[in-house]
Amino acid sequence: MITNTVYVYRAFERFWHWSQALLIMFLALTGFEIHGSITFFGFEDAVAYHNVAAYALIILIVFAIFWHLTTGEWRQYIPSLTHVRAYMNYYVFGIFRNEPHPTRKTVLTKLNPLQKLVYFGLKTLIIPGMLITGLLYIFYRYPQRHGIEALNIESLEIIAVLHTAGAFLLLGFLIVHLYLMTTGESVFSNLRAMLTGYEQLHEEEEDQDVNIVIVSAPTTEKQS
Ligand code: HEM
Repeated sequence: MITNTVYVYRAFERFWHWSQALLIMFLALTGFEIHGSITFFGFEDAVAYHNVAAYALIILIVFAIFWHLTTGEWRQYIPSLTHVRAYMNYYVFGIFRNEPHPTRKTVLTKLNPLQKLVYFGLKTLIIPGMLITGLLYIFYRYPQRHGIEALNIESLEIIAVLHTAGAFLLLGFLIVHLYLMTTGESVFSNLRAMLTGYEQLHEEEEDQDVNIVIVSAPTTEKQS
């Protein structure tokens, strides 16, 4: 099948992806030390590093929102239920039988329907939830520092539970994300694309803005 090398991920997109990934992993490391699950930096340093990384993530998110709005890339994340069942079948059965992906990737449709749903949930629920509970944590944890002594410190519990639950969800996402990263055209093709920006896409799909349903019989060749 004819493929073309296409510039899929732009410079800022790659920078945002990798810096967000590093910051979330670092926040997980320091966060779970604060939680008491692991020991690495020591509690006090973990708290200090967690706060710095959290502010860095917030700044990155502001730039990323601006970039998505100005480039129109936010449209990539509009979820749709079309082909979701086909993808669930694919990830449970098809992938182990070397079947092709139910739809093909294009520059204007980088995410498959299942990814759209998951990323949409991450961007509208999990990340804002972490941000809001994290900021509440910062400002409620030390009420005397911010002059809000009147607030009941007991109410921190629900914030801590929600923040920790979000951290577990993000950790789960990270593990699944790393596995799915290896299921592209080859084990490293998705990783290479997010590092270099370039990816091998099938020629005829480059400039279409809808997912194409593959109707041919399964082949042994994997699609991306
Ligand atoms: C912008 C986002 C974030 C902010 C503002 C934030 C802020 C905070 C603060 C202030 C604490 C409490 C520190 C203390 O006890 O003094 C905390 C705890 C924690 N954070 Fe974050 N955080 C953010 C993102 C994250 C992310 C992305 C993760 C994980 C992937 C994470 C995981 C945790 C965990 C597990 C705890 C311990 C919770 C507990 O045991 O009560 N945080 N965070």
